[in-house]
Amino acid sequence: MYVCLCKGITDNQIKDAVFGGASSLREVRKQLGVMSQCGKCGIMTKQIVEETLSVP
Ligand code: FES
Repeated sequence: MYVCLCKGITDNQIKDAVFGGASSLREVRKQLGVMSQCGKCGIMTKQIVEETLSVP
């Protein structure tokens, strides 16, 4: 599912970034460029990052 339409970034890409070592919203943003345009995807991205980080 697309989370960031401006950059065409999916929830799976965000999860992969976290599994690949991005440990904060900021790092995910830096790696993928998510939230770098309109910012509408911010809340959703934050949720996915937090959820993925809390996976044991
Ligand atoms: Fe992500 Fe616009 S939808 S910056």
